[in-house]
Order: sequence, then C-alpha cells, then structure tokens
Amino acid sequence: MRLLAVLCLLLQLIFEHSSCTHLRVVPGSTLELPCLSFQTDFTEAAITWKFNGRNISTQSPGSATVKKNGMSLAISPITAAHEGEYVCLVKESNVELMRAYNVTVDASIGYTIKVNEGSTFQLPCHFPFSSKVTANALWFKEMDVGKKTLLNTGDESTGDGERVELLYPLDHDQTVILRDAVMEDAGIYQCESAEGKKMSTVYIIVVATPTVVPFSCDGFTTAWEPCQDEDSRTGEPIVQESMAEFSMKLYSYFRESNPSRNLLFSPISISGALSHLLLGARDDTRRAIERAVCVPHDFHCLHFQMKKQREKLANSLQMASQIYYNPQMNLSEAFTNQSIQFYEAEPIRLLETDDENTQMINSWVANKTNNKIRKLVDSVSPSTQLILLNAVSFSGQWKFKFNEKPKKGLFTKLNGDLVKVPLLHHERYMVAMSFVPELKANVARFGLTGDSSLYILLPRTSSLNDLQQVEAKMTDTAVRQMIEHMKATSPQHVEVTLPQIKLDIQPDMNLVIKKLGLLSLFEGANLCGLYPAEKVVLDDARHRAFLALTEEGVEAGGVTTLSFSRTFPSFSALRPFIMLLWSDQANVPLFVGRVTDP
Ligand SMILES: *[C@@H]1O[C@H](CO)[C@@H](O)[C@H](O)[C@H]1NC(C)=O
Ligand SMILES: *[C@@H]1O[C@H](CO)[C@@H](O)[C@H](O)[C@H]1NC(C)=O
Ligand SMILES: *[C@@H]1O[C@H](CO)[C@@H](O)[C@H](O)[C@H]1NC(C)=O
Ligand SMILES: *[C@@H]1O[C@H](CO)[C@@H](O)[C@H](O)[C@H]1NC(C)=O
Ligand SMILES: *[C@@H]1O[C@H](CO)[C@@H](O)[C@H](O)[C@H]1NC(C)=O
Repeated sequence: MRLLAVLCLLLQLIFEHSSCTHLRVVPGSTLELPCLSFQTDFTEAAITWKFNGRNISTQSPGSATVKKNGMSLAISPITAAHEGEYVCLVKESNVELMRAYNVTVDASIGYTIKVNEGSTFQLPCHFPFSSKVTANALWFKEMDVGKKTLLNTGDESTGDGERVELLYPLDHDQTVILRDAVMEDAGIYQCESAEGKKMSTVYIIVVATPTVVPFSCDGFTTAWEPCQDEDSRTGEPIVQESMAEFSMKLYSYFRESNPSRNLLFSPISISGALSHLLLGARDDTRRAIERAVCVPHDFHCLHFQMKKQREKLANSLQMASQIYYNPQMNLSEAFTNQSIQFYEAEPIRLLETDDENTQMINSWVANKTNNKIRKLVDSVSPSTQLILLNAVSFSGQWKFKFNEKPKKGLFTKLNGDLVKVPLLHHERYMVAMSFVPELKANVARFGLTGDSSLYILLPRTSSLNDLQQVEAKMTDTAVRQMIEHMKATSPQHVEVTLPQIKLDIQPDMNLVIKKLGLLSLFEGANLCGLYPAEKVVLDDARHRAFLALTEEGVEAGGVTTLSFSRTFPSFSALRPFIMLLWSDQANVPLFVGRVTDP
C-alpha cells in the first residue's frame, strides 16, 4: 500500500518536475523551496537537501535552514553565494524521489517592492521621454526562467482584470496598479514595449499580515494647527513657489495626456480645492496632498496664506469655495469653523433628490464664475457624501485697446492646415516683447487692468516639435525667471495680431489626481479632520476652464470639484462560494456546502 502510494507520487513528481525548476531571485530576499508539493508521511531521516552536491544538515550554520522535517528549505537573506543547484532527496526502502531547483541570483532587477498581503501597490515602468508612445507596454509575470504570462490589465473578462489596472493608457508612464495583493503575487514582473524592449523589472515580495486592523479616526480628529506667525515674511514666498511648481507640474501632466489639442486649466482653482480638502485631511492623506500641491509638510500657515492670496487677488480674480455634504454626516465643528475662517465656506447640506442637487451645484458654479460656466455636473449620485467645489472668475481689460475694426486672418495649425479666425490687431501696440533663449520662445507681455498680464509664448515655428521643445523647457524655475525678465523689459511699439479665441475645456481631472500621487484618494482617504467617523473615497474629480480673448480683454473662469462617497465595505456572494452552518452554542459545524450554480 505504502509502496504503491510512493510510486504514484514518483510518477507525479516525474511528470511535474521532469526538469529542474529555475528560479531567479534578488539579493536580500527570502526563498522557501518546498521538497514535495503534497502531504506525505516521510520521516525526517528520509529527507536530505543538497546544495551544489553537498549535504545541508539541519544544524549547519549559514542562512539556509531545513524546515518542517526537511519538507522545505528556507534561505534568508539571499546573497550571491546562494546561487546554484538545490536538490531535495527522499529515500524510502525501494524508492528514491528527487526534486531539483536551479537558483540564479540576479542583482540587475530594478525594483524590489515589499508589500503587505491585501494591500494595493504599483509596478513602475516608463517609456523614455524621447520616445513616442504608440502602444501600451506589456506587463509579464515570470513563472520560471524563460516562461512568462501576460498580465491582464483592465481586462474584465478574467478575474485579474479588476485587480490589475494600467493607470495611464498610452502615456509615457506605464505603471500598473495591483490591488488586494495575495501571496501568489510574489515574484518577478517585467514591463516590455510592444517591440519587446525590456523597460522595467520589478521583484515583488508579499508579506503576510497578521490581522487587518479596522480603520479608525482615533488620534486624527484634532483641528488644523494654528498659524503661529501670521506676519512671517517666509509664508508668502512659500505659497508663490509652490503655486508655480504645482502649475508647471499640472501642465506637464495635461500635455502628456493631450499632446496637441487645445488645453486650458486653472491651477489656482485646482490648488484652491485641494488646499481646502487638505484642511480636513490627516496622516497619509494629508502628506499626499501636501506633496501634490508642493507645499512643505507641516506648513501650518498654508490656509492663512491661501486666504491672504485670495484677498490680494480680489480686484481681478474672485475665488469661492463651497462644501456640500450629506445630512447624515456629522462634520467636525472645528473643520466647519476653519472652513469659514479661511475659505469663507460654510458647509451646506445636500438636498433630497438628484435633480435638486444637480441644479443647486450648477447654479452655484454659474454664479461664482459670473455665468462663464453654467454647467459642471450632470447628476449627483445618492451615495455622494461630500462635494468640494472651487470656482474662480477672472476679468481684465487690455491696458492698451486694440483697433475696433473687425478683421479676419489665417491661423496655421500644427498640421499645416489654415483656419480663418477673427483677429485682435494693432499696428503700434505697446507691448514688452523678447526672445527668451531658456524657453526657445518669443514672449510678449500684454498688460491688463487689475495688475495682471497675459504672457504669450510663441515657439519658433508652427510645428509640433517646436511647440514640444518649448513645453519641455517650461519648468517652474524657467517660467519664474521668464516672468522676472519680462517685467524688466520695457514696452515698445509693435504690430500685434492675436486670434480672438474662446476656449472651454474639461481636462481629465481623474487622471491628473492620480498623476499628482493622489491615487489613494480613490481607494480611501483619511479626512478625519472633516468627518471624524470613517474613510471616504473620491468618486469623481472634475475641472472645467473657460477663457476668451476679446476686444475688451480677457474673460476667464474655472471650476474644480471633488466628490466623495462612503467606503462601504462590500460583500457580494454573486460567484461560487462555500457555506458552513455552525452551531455557535455547541461550537460545531452542522452543515457544510458549496454553491457554484444557484
Ligand atoms: C549526506 O546525507 C546522507 C543522508 O543523510 C548520508 O547518507 C550521506 O553520507 C551524507 N553525505 C555526506 C558527505 O555527509
Ligand atoms: C542553472 O542555470 C544556469 C543559468 O540558467 C545554467 O547556466 C546552469 O547550467 C544551470 N544548472 C543546472 C544544473 O541546470
Ligand atoms: C451625529 O451627531 C448627533 C449628535 O451629536 C448624534 O446624535 C448622531 O448619532 C450622529 N450621527 C452619526 C451618523 O454619527
Ligand atoms: C466654532 O465656532 C463657534 C462660534 O464661533 C464656537 O462657539 C465654537 O466653540 C467653535 N468650535 C470649535 C470646535 O472651535
Ligand atoms: C450670484 O448670487 C448673488 C447672491 O444671490 C447675486 O447677488 C449675484 O448677482 C449673483 N451673480 C451672478 C453672476 O449671477
């Protein structure tokens, strides 16, 4: 009987492991090699492990340890010295079983990422910035040396489609996110271009988590710290620098997802919404938003400075914030007070129906953008808990008027096509103009009332390449230097021709929120300073910007919204499951079953 069983195992073993298993591992990691992948009753004496032909004894020093009576061999931490052949030998009276592993230690693996079981993590991969992205990269998991399987990114037909998602399709950033890590996710992942060029190798280590501690707002409910030094002269430059950095960062994200079409956004509205949110964010969420808006951690005076900035801008740009919340939510009183103090926003309860809420929000938007934007949302879902809004409205007249006579001209598009456009024209317009070599662009500064200016950066030609060269040089430092330079340039009489434009653009805010490193908002945000009960999740982020150049001047409006819902822990048994009917009184199982076809 025993022999039969062993023979049977042997056949299985030969079938499964006719050649030895190749494993590629990174230095510093942990490896556990099983001897047999099935349960047997062999005794310890019968199992021997060999490394490059030499016995590994149970007592042998070094980092390879024989475990579970020889049933497995654990190596930790792996060093180059562990490279070689590992053989597990099982001896019974008449039969010998053998299993071999060939272990290669590879230090060339780019990233090693250690994640907790159940967590969500990202596998980084980037196309070189000089290349053009025409197809998404392919992500593989290495099953054995030379054998790999393709990860299904966003393919709903397989179970993994929901767990694995390509964050930015057709973007230089080909990072994928993997949710709810399981132990089997451990291993080597490779990102390759469609042509087969290797771009990134990531080694994932999954660590078992003892128990998942339920989230609690305990310790996170105190109010935002007061600004100790309101008169400090460093506060204002910090906000100016972070605004410039944030704006240019946003521009680079928006242009990446939209390399050639019209583009418009209002960084001051987006940062206004995020700063307002920051007032209620705590712990990791707070740090993520601080990084996103480029302010130093623990800059307590941020909200005070945002208020000062809003007041300073008031004669050209009006900014308003608002928070709508589900009446079932108990907003923190301290947050409500600070929201009024810094953002002049007293939270308002959401109404009963979707229609009422949609109308309430759109009319707030229309009112605060001076009717430049009349519609932002199509509906408000009943599960919405919180909607944060920020709206700005700008109006500035040309300091020097253009000719009143209407004129038309031809605008050359990137592809060389010509379009007829109405023009703003003047033969002797007073304008500061200069070639800025750092940006490879001809820059003109048009003075506006209300102490603002419109800067126009003109690349050398109408080609996409020249446009992109300018855009690539537009770092916050270069732009701030350009502004200083232009302010010092005296205006001269210049023949000026500008197209009369009207832009109304809704860039993809959900994508930009992710690129800002705020993906965690979609997975569960700690807003305990605002709502001290539980995490909420970001459902939708929107931005809409409008700008018109007319004979009179510049009219512009922008609005940003972040809408959150509760994180309902969900449990849906709409796929095969197992049941146990248990007597809690006697603490014994009464029925055990399985449902695969209800
Ligand atoms: C290796 O171990 C086996 C089984 O325990 C034993 O028979 C053999 O003599 C050992 N070889 C060496 C070189 O120690
Ligand atoms: C182990 O793998 C390495 C590299 O793939 C190879 O050179 C070597 O011959 C292999 N050894 C055995 C025993 O299969
Ligand atoms: C909100 O607060 C009120 C009064 O403090 C309390 O009675 C109510 O249960 C709270 N509601 C929730 C959903 O926590
Ligand atoms: C909020 O403001 C009100 C009115 O000014 C005040 O009575 C209350 O104590 C404040 N609450 C907190 C928590 O600061
Ligand atoms: C916005 O609302 C205020 C208060 O109701 C009103 O006085 C103002 O005229 C409105 N503005 C616009 C542009 O509708």
